[in-house]
Parts: sequence; structure tokens; C-alpha cells
Amino acid sequence: MKVWIPHEAGAGLLGEVPAGVTVEPWTDPGRPPSDPTDVRFWVPPFLSAGDASAMLERLPNLAVVQLLSAGADAWIGRVPEGVTLCDARGVHDAGTAEWVLTAILSQLREFPAMARAQARREWAYAEVSPTDELTGKRVLIVGAGSIGAAVHARLAPFDVTVTLVARTARPAAGVHGVDELPRLLPKADVVVLLVPLTERTRGMVDADFLAAMPDGALLVNAARGPVARTEALVAELSSGRLRAALDVTDPEPLPADHPLWELPNVLLTPHVAGSVHGLLPRAYRLVGAQVRRFAAGEPLVNTVTDGY
Ligand code: OXD
Repeated sequence: MKVWIPHEAGAGLLGEVPAGVTVEPWTDPGRPPSDPTDVRFWVPPFLSAGDASAMLERLPNLAVVQLLSAGADAWIGRVPEGVTLCDARGVHDAGTAEWVLTAILSQLREFPAMARAQARREWAYAEVSPTDELTGKRVLIVGAGSIGAAVHARLAPFDVTVTLVARTARPAAGVHGVDELPRLLPKADVVVLLVPLTERTRGMVDADFLAAMPDGALLVNAARGPVARTEALVAELSSGRLRAALDVTDPEPLPADHPLWELPNVLLTPHVAGSVHGLLPRAYRLVGAQVRRFAAGEPLVNTVTDGY
């Protein structure tokens, strides 16, 4: 059988490849590397969506689509019946959690304002100080998966109060259900979005959600742009009542004339939370383990069911 992967360097990162398995890079969608008939296992390019799903049609005997992303939203409903879809749960925990911590600290300590002042060669002490701080803050993490747990662990030394929210409450683990958000949001200084994009979470952050956040609170989106309603975000953030750090937007990429670019209380990054140097080694370690499981007829991990 053949395994097709999206990086030339990927084969060297897989670990042991079982006998009878050929690994080939498929980097140019228009030029499959060889006869696709024997391809049973395919890894699409990182964060690829609609355009790459057209590549699926060229793989008539495919059994597994293994994503390099934690989010599988772009592939839900596109993978043919009988083909198993797996995400890269675990691979992005460290990178995304670091981005979340960086974003929170940057916004609270006014780094964007200071970077703007640096570009103007201005010693902006009076303009930016005293800054806010993370110590003592109440942080609400919406999405209690593996990235949520990684963020929680990294927040621990900062002397903050962390509350976790998931699809359903898990009282024994101290995790609240989403239905409790109206009660929890008014008590949160920082709200971190880490939910997968599903029909239930699309538009979850609407005008009511934002209105429930206290004055000066910080919204951090490391999930997917459409989890928040952009018009509601623009309306609330334009008033200056809230702050935001957004790694994802809707639309994405954000067009140059979009009002979000102009807002001084918004930190925008171009969907880079998971894009770190360690991504490919970690991701291909997972791919290698999955290929070995598949070749041995063992169950795969990270299978996506009902959008999760
Ligand atoms: C992911 C991402 O889903 O980086 O992995 O957005």
C-alpha cells in the first residue's frame, strides 16, 4: 500500500515504516507522484480545506485521511463514506498554548501599543503605564480538550483563577458545561476560545456573549474565526469596552480594508498559533504511529466523529 504525505521531509520523520508500505510526497496537487490506485492513507497539506479535498477524488481506494491540524472542521462532510478521518489532537498543544499565553500577556502588558510607539521612536512611558497584569485574573477557557488542558497547565504559575468549560459538564473534573456560560462570563477577566468549529459552536460568540463579559475583559480566539460573529465583535470592540487577541478571523485571511485592523484594542495574528518549528516532527511522529497501527490492523487514534 502507499501513503502519500504533503512534505518531502516528512518521510524522514515517520520512524519505522512497515514492510509493504511505500511513502511518497504529494506536493503538487496537479501532479500525483505515481499511480494513486494503491494509496490507502493520505495526509493532506496543513490547514488545507476545500481545494485540497478535491485531491480526494483522485484516490479511489483511500481508507484514511490523517490531518496535520487539530481542527477537522474543513473536512467534515467532505470525506467519502467508509474513509476514516483523523485529526492531529495533541500535536498542537504546546504551540497553541504558548500563543495563548503570549497573546494574553502581550495584551495585558500593552506590548502592541509599545511596539507601535517603538516604530514611531517614542519613549511611551506615560502613554502605556501602568499596564494591566495577569496576576489575580479570572481566566475562562472555553474548550476543555487537550489544548485547553495545555493552556490551563501553563497558566498555573501565574496566580490566576482558571475555569474550564466544555460541551457537557464534568463536575468530577471541575469542568462546567456551555449552558453555564451566561453565569460564568460576567466573572471572567480573560475568555479563551479553544472549541472546535461545529454546527453548535458556529456563531457562539455573539452580541449576548460579548455583552456578558465585564468591561475591560479580554477575548482570545485561538479556535476558528466563525466561532465568533464578526459583526458583533466589530461592534463591541469598536466601542473600546473589551479587548481582543485574535489568531483566527471570519473571513480569513482578513481583507486589508476590514475594520478589525484599525482597532487599537485588537491584536491580530495570521493563524500562526500552531505554526512552530516543532510542528512537523511532532505531526509526522503521529502520522508514523498511525501508519503502523493501520498496517497492523489496529484501531487508529484521533478519529473524528460528529465533528469532534
Ligand atoms: C489547527 C490550527 O487546527 O493550527 O491545528 O488551527
